[in-house]
Amino acid sequence: MAHDTTNLPLRTLGGQGLRAGAIGLGTMGMTMAYGTPDDRNGIATIHRAYERGVTLFDTAELYGLGTGSNEQLLGRAVKDFRDEILIATKFGFDLSDPARIGTAFDSRPEHIREVAEASLRHLGTDRIDVLYQHRVDPDVPIEDVAGTVGELIAEGKVGHFGLSEAGPETIRRAHAVHPVSVLQTEYSVFERAVEAEVLPVVRELGIGFVPYSPLGRGFLTGAVKPAAAYPADDMRGQDERWQPGNYEKNLAAVRELTSLAEGKGITVAQLALAWLLAQGDDIVPIPGTRSPERLAENVAAAQVTLTPQDLGRIQEILPHGSAGSRYHEAMLPDWR
Ligand SMILES: NC(=O)c1ccc[n+]([C@@H]2O[C@H](COP(=O)([O-])OP(=O)(O)OC[C@H]3O[C@@H](n4cnc5c(N)ncnc54)[C@H](OP(=O)(O)O)[C@@H]3O)[C@@H](O)[C@H]2O)c1
Repeated sequence: MAHDTTNLPLRTLGGQGLRAGAIGLGTMGMTMAYGTPDDRNGIATIHRAYERGVTLFDTAELYGLGTGSNEQLLGRAVKDFRDEILIATKFGFDLSDPARIGTAFDSRPEHIREVAEASLRHLGTDRIDVLYQHRVDPDVPIEDVAGTVGELIAEGKVGHFGLSEAGPETIRRAHAVHPVSVLQTEYSVFERAVEAEVLPVVRELGIGFVPYSPLGRGFLTGAVKPAAAYPADDMRGQDERWQPGNYEKNLAAVRELTSLAEGKGITVAQLALAWLLAQGDDIVPIPGTRSPERLAENVAAAQVTLTPQDLGRIQEILPHGSAGSRYHEAMLPDWR
């Protein structure tokens, strides 16, 4: 399989030597959150990503709901080119009670070690290139988390320490114990909260930034539907941005973005990704898709140049992001 990186320049994610193609691939939707899992298309999409020069592949313990299925899928798909790419995975949830999945945390050092060992097994690899804490655990000091990931790095099992959805104070405390290479948090033209305090702190400390859900969980594409049209196993049926009242406002904004994109001969998804890439050279978004065609479309966004007028127009269309919050109150992190 060819790996053509000519159209996807490498970016440096912070000051710890982490470098990745400017657009990565998130694999969450291949096993959860957006409807029925589809291994065949998932693997075909991962292969297309490699062919198009993608090097950063993002998974998590959570995406297999404790079964390891998402990491296994990724590990299987990349086994022939594993050494040419970076695998990022995440720990930090307590998945023992199905009723509390997503809201119960466990970053105790012994649990981090257990999850990291299981991830290595599921991925079929001897190292995790980036190991993220998926959510801050209010019951475990971040210093203990940083110390434990630092030990795994010293043992050669992990390459880089990442945080996800951590606030400025937590990032500083973690970084003082073991350097944080990268922060992953939701960021898109729909979701701008990181701009106030989080992005300035990661830049001050030399930490790279990985925007997740860079397509607003699919709203920033031509493929959005009203909440009621999604099946029960698709979380967008419950997402506030899809609910009546918010949906119409967000759809109107996406229509305006689409008309700007069409004027440039690109798709609205490409416009949304190019906007993120224009926010700084230290940013590598990880759009998720289960389609090789959409993967190719998304990666081609790295070739799009937005003018100051384009960026100004996007700001006019969505001065404060979407209508409706990205998570229900109980799931929002405490930094915002
Ligand atoms: N750290 C965290 O807490 C966290 C939370 C959420 C996600 N993440 C990571 O971020 C990754 C990306 O986020 P995400 O998957 O939630 O949201 P996203 O990338 O914003 O959107 C994904 C959705 O958009 C659709 N899509 C993608 N490209 C498209 C295109 N060109 N045209 C039309 N539709 C398109 C996908 O559908 P199809 O599959 O049908 O193409 C999917 O439904 C995840 O896979 C995961 O790795 C991390």
